[in-house]
Amino acid sequence: AKILVLHGPNLNLLGVREPGVYGTTTLEGINNALLELAAELSLELEIVQSNSEGGLVDAIQGALGTCQGILINPAAYTHTSVALRDAIAATALPAVEVHLSNVHAREPFRSHSFIAPVAVGQICGFGAESYLLGLRALAKRLGK
Ligand code: DQA
Repeated sequence: AKILVLHGPNLNLLGVREPGVYGTTTLEGINNALLELAAELSLELEIVQSNSEGGLVDAIQGALGTCQGILINPAAYTHTSVALRDAIAATALPAVEVHLSNVHAREPFRSHSFIAPVAVGQICGFGAESYLLGLRALAKRLGK
């Protein structure tokens, strides 16, 4: 099975961006750890990072017919984007929402997710490990 891994805005800056909140692991480091785990789980990954909402919508639409699940950190668009939510709903693919930080322990606006209602579930607060937990959850869901 193939999984679309989507990283939203500003996640290209991981490692230098607010390390006290997001840790020091770079996006490349996260992607490498995901690829290693994917090999263990016999999953193929397509990894995309975009700073634009439209770029993320296009990637989600592109998963239709090519991927069996979506692992997504929508970053700031979590809290603003009906378009991302509708795109995920449109694909009808199982999606797992992940966040590095515990969004529920931060500013109140970060507690609300437009994505969570169309996701299988949400994992947050475990730093880079959130992604790995999310991939394992998705693999289980797909019977892997
Ligand atoms: C984030 C949390 C969001 O609130 C924030 O806008 C991000 C990163 C996280 O992974 O903790 O950019 O999604």
